[in-house]
Amino acid sequence: MWLRMEDVRNGARQRLPRFVFDYVDGGAEDEACLHGNGSDLAALRLLPNCLKDTTTIDTRVEVFGQTWSRPLGVAPVGFNGLVRPDGDVLLARAAASQGIPFVLSTASNERLEAVRAAAPDAVQWMQLYVMSDRAIAEQIVRRAAAAGYGALVLTVDVPVSGMRERDLRNGFKLPFRPGLRTLWDLASHPAWSLGMARAGSPGFVNLSESTDGAASAQLQAALLARAMDRSLVWDSLAWLRRLWAGPLLLKGVLRADDAARALRAGVDGLIVSNHGGRQLDAAPSTISVLQGIVQSVEDRVPVFIDSGFRRGSDVVKALSLGARGVFVGRPAVWGLAANGEAGAREALGLIGTEIVRTLTLMGAACVRDLGPDHVTRSWTSQPQASTR
Ligand code: FNR
Repeated sequence: MWLRMEDVRNGARQRLPRFVFDYVDGGAEDEACLHGNGSDLAALRLLPNCLKDTTTIDTRVEVFGQTWSRPLGVAPVGFNGLVRPDGDVLLARAAASQGIPFVLSTASNERLEAVRAAAPDAVQWMQLYVMSDRAIAEQIVRRAAAAGYGALVLTVDVPVSGMRERDLRNGFKLPFRPGLRTLWDLASHPAWSLGMARAGSPGFVNLSESTDGAASAQLQAALLARAMDRSLVWDSLAWLRRLWAGPLLLKGVLRADDAARALRAGVDGLIVSNHGGRQLDAAPSTISVLQGIVQSVEDRVPVFIDSGFRRGSDVVKALSLGARGVFVGRPAVWGLAANGEAGAREALGLIGTEIVRTLTLMGAACVRDLGPDHVTRSWTSQPQASTR
């Protein structure tokens, strides 16, 4: 039985070969950003109100005219098919079963139409990477609109890939040529290896419009290496706006001035993110910049956050500081790795249950009862003026 997210992560570690576990788990360079996300969340304390009526706790939030059962969602994660065959569909179903949104990655291994069809009544958003050949992005956006995705999430923190040292050490790139160490790794994880052998190697099937022909091996390798269009700038948003009529969000914003600029460019929402510590290792934790961004946005568009959220109390901290909702990446994928759809559901359910318990302990009957006065910084994390 899983009591905490670390149990789920350990389940994933047991099931996955090392190079796959490291791909999911790892961050950039020294992994300082990866760890900073968690330690800055831990340094915040929650200040509860006492003697409040918490007979019923309402965790619902409204976003773009749709209701989420909880202020929680599944962040876009590429290459889920490496974690489990059909990984994207299993994750989408797990999110749907919890009444929370699922964001599909451009680098998914199942076609965006198939993932939409797997949970047609659920909230699903499409994440977009723009590679040098913009025609690829254009066909993805057109197909996402036709399939009924509710919002487009443009990821803006990957002009180039972060330096993922674990992946380099493990030789994880396309075309995949396993060395002796990896062959041993595969042999010692037979359940994963047999599953992959049966399903065949996952491809980046959204890069090509045609249902039968996968994109060229070269293009797929470029996506895994995150070779993006570096000439994508603020003015490029007008190009996307012409293609996409629905809500448009930017994911990867860390500065209040960029948030203000996004509003001027007509963006409908922001996701404060450092990509789970996988890109700029020197970036700040997302929780440390949230309030400044919320203030600059002044409630004109919803602000979401991700990176390092593992507990319901982490989510409540971000909600108190003004986030409309929190996305998680690795927790859902660890659950998927360890036990498929049921595992992802259980991992998401764990955070959901903790959100309810934390709100109750906070004396907050609903999310709107929370405010910045409910958060304080930990004394133990501050330098002491004098020692006794
Ligand atoms: C990601 N992330 C990501 N983001 C994105 O916009 N497109 C993508 O394809 C991917 N792929 C991806 C793969 C893996 C294995 C991970 C772990 C993450 C980033 C993701 O959306 C999100 O920002 C972080 O995962 C949030 O941090 P936590 O919850 O994983 O700590």
